[in-house]
Amino acid sequence: MTNPVFCAFDMPDTASALEMASRLKGRIGGIKLGMEFFMAEGPAGIRALSAQNVPIFLDLKLHDIPNTVAGAVTSLLPLAPHFMTIHTAGGPAMMQAAVKAAAGAGPNRPKLLGVTVLTSLDQADLAACGHTAKTQDLVVTLAKLAQDSGLDGIVCSPQEIAAVRAACGPDFVLMVPGIRPLWAAAGDQKRVMTPREACAAGATHLVIGRPITAAPDPAEAATRIQEDLAA
Ligand code: C5P
Repeated sequence: MTNPVFCAFDMPDTASALEMASRLKGRIGGIKLGMEFFMAEGPAGIRALSAQNVPIFLDLKLHDIPNTVAGAVTSLLPLAPHFMTIHTAGGPAMMQAAVKAAAGAGPNRPKLLGVTVLTSLDQADLAACGHTAKTQDLVVTLAKLAQDSGLDGIVCSPQEIAAVRAACGPDFVLMVPGIRPLWAAAGDQKRVMTPREACAAGATHLVIGRPITAAPDPAEAATRIQEDLAA
């Protein structure tokens, strides 16, 4: 079994990220780098981490008009990320333009994942933005739209795995944050699942940050998660 864990490196500098990458070598399936890292360290920072031969999930949550998002995807292709994210709320034309742009990289193109409803938004926030649908219904609608637009999968919370898996079938990538092993503190994550629970529910990939990166021994924490998943 390939390791499904993408470790969230929520840190702003390449030196700390490289240090963490070397501690975790061979114990994680990939590294998730987001806006905090990219805004500080840019393409050079991403290249430095890819050079460690670890798959990169570049979580920049692109959202703009189709032409601009397609251009951004094309500009990111030389960094050869394994996964990258775009907002499904950008609509079908934007997602299709992103898919077409990613195809320019050929068979090793990055897989595109959709962001549906940010988990920081509750029902009242959605209502304030003019959405009347229930959160989970909106997530499923946007997941299906992403799939119909050619995306490879979505990022979703543990609570949404089952509904999205049922709606989108077995081949859709579900990258799931909000994961906590039983031995780790929940921190600010409110609705969590263990790695095994999330995989059993239908997650294909897990985003795990602080349970690994803030552990006294990150390498040991990553190994424990690996062993737990393999058991
Ligand atoms: O440290 P922790 O395991 O909570 O990190 C989870 C990572 O996943 C963070 O980078 C966080 O921004 C991201 N994420 C999340 N919940 C979402 C989407 C992304 O925790 N709904």
